[in-house]
Amino acid sequence: MCGIVGYVGRRQAQEILLSGLSKLEYRGYDSAGVAIYHENVLSIEKTLGRLKGLEDRLDGQPVQGTIGIGHTRWATHGKPSTENAHPHTDCSGDFVVVHNGIIENYLALREELEAKGHRFVSETDTEVVSHLVEDLFTGDLFTTVLAVIQKMRGAFALGVLSKREPDKLIAVRSHSPLVIGLGEGENFLASDIPAILPYTRDVLILDEGEMAVLTQDGVQCYDLQGQPHGKDVFTVTWDAVAAEKDGYEHYMLKEIHEQPRAVSDTLRGRITEDGRRVILPELAWTSEEIKQFDRIHIVACGTSYHAGLVGKVVIEQLARIPVDVEIASEYRYRDPIVSDRTLVMVISQSGETADTLAALRNAQERGNKVLAITNVVGSSVAREANDVIITWAGPEISVASTKAYTTQLIALYLFSVYLAQAKGTIQGEALATIVQALLELPQKLSEVLDTAPKIEEIAKAFSSWDDAFFLGRGLDYSVALEGALKYKEISYIHAEAYPSGELKHGTLALIVDDVPVVALLTQDALYEKSISNIKEVKARGAHVVAIAWAGDEETQKSVDRVLYVPKTLSFLAPIVLVVPLQLLAYYASVARGNDVDKPRNLAKSVTVE
Ligand code: G6P
Repeated sequence: MCGIVGYVGRRQAQEILLSGLSKLEYRGYDSAGVAIYHENVLSIEKTLGRLKGLEDRLDGQPVQGTIGIGHTRWATHGKPSTENAHPHTDCSGDFVVVHNGIIENYLALREELEAKGHRFVSETDTEVVSHLVEDLFTGDLFTTVLAVIQKMRGAFALGVLSKREPDKLIAVRSHSPLVIGLGEGENFLASDIPAILPYTRDVLILDEGEMAVLTQDGVQCYDLQGQPHGKDVFTVTWDAVAAEKDGYEHYMLKEIHEQPRAVSDTLRGRITEDGRRVILPELAWTSEEIKQFDRIHIVACGTSYHAGLVGKVVIEQLARIPVDVEIASEYRYRDPIVSDRTLVMVISQSGETADTLAALRNAQERGNKVLAITNVVGSSVAREANDVIITWAGPEISVASTKAYTTQLIALYLFSVYLAQAKGTIQGEALATIVQALLELPQKLSEVLDTAPKIEEIAKAFSSWDDAFFLGRGLDYSVALEGALKYKEISYIHAEAYPSGELKHGTLALIVDDVPVVALLTQDALYEKSISNIKEVKARGAHVVAIAWAGDEETQKSVDRVLYVPKTLSFLAPIVLVVPLQLLAYYASVARGNDVDKPRNLAKSVTVE
């Protein structure tokens, strides 16, 4: 996830681009840059680090010009560095491009272009775009960009500016967001509305597969075949603060709703085109290397640890490799039994958690290979691990982790299938069924999100209680742990997750009349046993809300209320189950008037022990 902006008009572009980028820093902030055209000169200025560095530099030496593009980066391909910062240009320096998204076939395109003599200076996927524009330039920028996008696969929102036609900007939207702002004698493009809100409230929200040509005097929209069409103007009525949260009241709610997109981005490029196998291009492991792992240690903290618990079940089930999951602050001070055949996996959203990083370093000192799953490309964990699988959740701002968890699960599912393919523990149709089920998850997540109003009602009722219990068996228990953590960290209500079968060994004593219980019921093989446990708490007066598969008519006979989630494979249930639990915690926190995004005593990234 990155942020892009563009301006064409009569005012100095620099100030408008920088102001726009400052509103998009939530989308990434590891480097920033602008390209501005003036009197036959196309100046590119970029710096590593937050936008402030670029602002300070340009403060002393402003760049003249009334047309330009800008970018704030969240590294995907290539580490955070000045070379990898956008805008990117071609060999001639006549074309500049800013990009948000991932160009999946960039390596093949890059090889083709290099064979033709193009020289690349960055490690990014984006740079292929500027060289392609140069390579295919027909004398007309618009038709050239049309030809360029036919060659690209993946997700991209693009802003293109050229010295050869310096009166226009080309904007393209394909699976990454892009809006156009309409002004008087000036027009804007941006990844998100807040960037243009100080200048105009009239916007065109580009739909999937649309592009636009912006000049000082107007904007024309096209489809990706180059056919022009009209578009309704949308007038923004929210204030700037609400717009930064996309109209949501809190970042947490926005991030919960981003999950279909985040999951789909994390899957993108990691499944073969026929939809039957997993590929992880970032792991250049041979089958022999994979087969030599006889044990995996997953190490993490907080929500990432809970993702690891799901990973254990799935890796063991699919790839038949024993997995231990450990809390990093414990693991680092133990003397774990490992051999050179142990793979250590660390999971960290931020990639900066002190205990996780220490566990990674200890493992490497013991000679173990470390695979990291992280959301931040340039983070310490990403830099130090031997191999990395990036989750494409985009920056997570709310302290309570939501989209990071679901994308960590996706990375773990992909990795489990990857191991199983190499070991031959799943093959043929069984394999294709799993891969198809993974591809269906974004749609299923959208369906779960539609049930938010019902969950809000339940949360309001639950929030007057000082306790809540989350029960489940098998993977339902792993998700219950995450549900209880979410609930306590933002609602400040005591919450406990328990394996349903263990209740009668102590916790049942806490069940009294009307106490809220959330029972998870997606593990088909354990269904009947879970229902018996529900009856045990019902008999002691608990108010039970079950979360069960759509179509399950049976459960409602045993509980007070059922929330349904769309059916998927049992081992993928955590993805659809966790969303109602995130929403439950969110609405309980709102009902209690808490600061949802910044819960007391907690930090987003714990970089001290
Ligand atoms: C903090 C955050 C949690 C997070 C944990 C681990 O406690 O508040 O949301 O799960 O750290 O963070 P990491 O960045 O390593 O996943």
